[in-house]
Amino acid sequence: MQEEIISLKNEALAQIMEAKTDEELENLRISYLGRNGKLTELIKNIKNIEPEKRGQVGTSINEAKNTLLTSLAERKNKISVSAKVWFDSTIPGIKPEIGHLHLITQAIEEISKVFSHLGFSRVRYPEVDWDWFAFTALNFPPNHPARDDWETFFIDVPESPQYGKMLLTPHTSNGQVREMQRIKTPPIRMINITKCYRRQIDISHTPIFHQFEGLVIDKNISVVNLKGTIDYFAKTFFGPERVTRLRPYHFQFTEPSFEVDISCGVCNGRGCRLCKAGWLELGGAGMVHPNVLKSSKINPDKYSGFAFGWGVERTYMMKAGISIPDLRMLYSTDLRYLRQF
Ligand code: FA5
Repeated sequence: MQEEIISLKNEALAQIMEAKTDEELENLRISYLGRNGKLTELIKNIKNIEPEKRGQVGTSINEAKNTLLTSLAERKNKISVSAKVWFDSTIPGIKPEIGHLHLITQAIEEISKVFSHLGFSRVRYPEVDWDWFAFTALNFPPNHPARDDWETFFIDVPESPQYGKMLLTPHTSNGQVREMQRIKTPPIRMINITKCYRRQIDISHTPIFHQFEGLVIDKNISVVNLKGTIDYFAKTFFGPERVTRLRPYHFQFTEPSFEVDISCGVCNGRGCRLCKAGWLELGGAGMVHPNVLKSSKINPDKYSGFAFGWGVERTYMMKAGISIPDLRMLYSTDLRYLRQF
């Protein structure tokens, strides 16, 4: 009986949806709900059903009847509205808006392209990784401040006996170790671009940002190769008139380490309001520390290499013609701002 009610209801609903006139609707009402209608016949037969099933069948029939009455009313409404509204099919349609890639996605594509011309392979390594890959293998001592809860986001899961705590990567340098472990035998030329996480937020810092990390390992790699690569990137990405310089710095995982500066695009190196005496800071770089090569099972007596790791957002901000006064604006959802790019 239940199945009969359901199939009758569905059959009636399908016909109601197809009805085009009030008259068709009235005929349907009579054929299902009229004195001798199909559903009415079922109601009449209720008395022949075993008493314990009667209640359930009654409820289903009532529900079907109400559904049909509601759909008849809705369809009637629709037919009368469409009869009154004149539709001009020659009016041009409204084009759906087509968006574009976010500025940072555009930047990542542009950066990958520059390095692919130098034979670097684009890779991505985990944003959730173990302390060992993000710190220990990179020559960080156990008490280094970067491991503080106020610097790095740690994940609340049991520690790995082998790799320590789980964390959100504060830089892309974990990719150095993972790439060396994956390739095993150099040459290696990787560009690792992915999200990084730090407990920082102000005009020039966001808690989530992107870095691109280059790593080259081979026989006889020196600072000259590093400088050549950086210069190629600067001239291709920012413009042929731009030059770079290396300043001594300190990173745990490179020796020697440098901070890379690029000549200011606004004053061409003469010094202006935007820059520090003609130079803008691009980011860190250096020759891979022998301890990092050893952790990654690469023989430091046979191979050497360089690495650099820069912020995608900050690097893109330095491109001429792009005005990003506050880094956080990039991650707002204000389309009036984002549409410009
Ligand atoms: C590092 O993270 C090193 N791993 C870079 C490196 C790699 C050095 C390989 C040597 C060899 P640093 O903490 O300076 O370095 O960050 C690098 C860049 O990331 C900065 O110059 C900046 O451009 C960007 N950056 C860092 N924190 C933020 C943040 N909160 N928001 C936006 N950009 C950031």
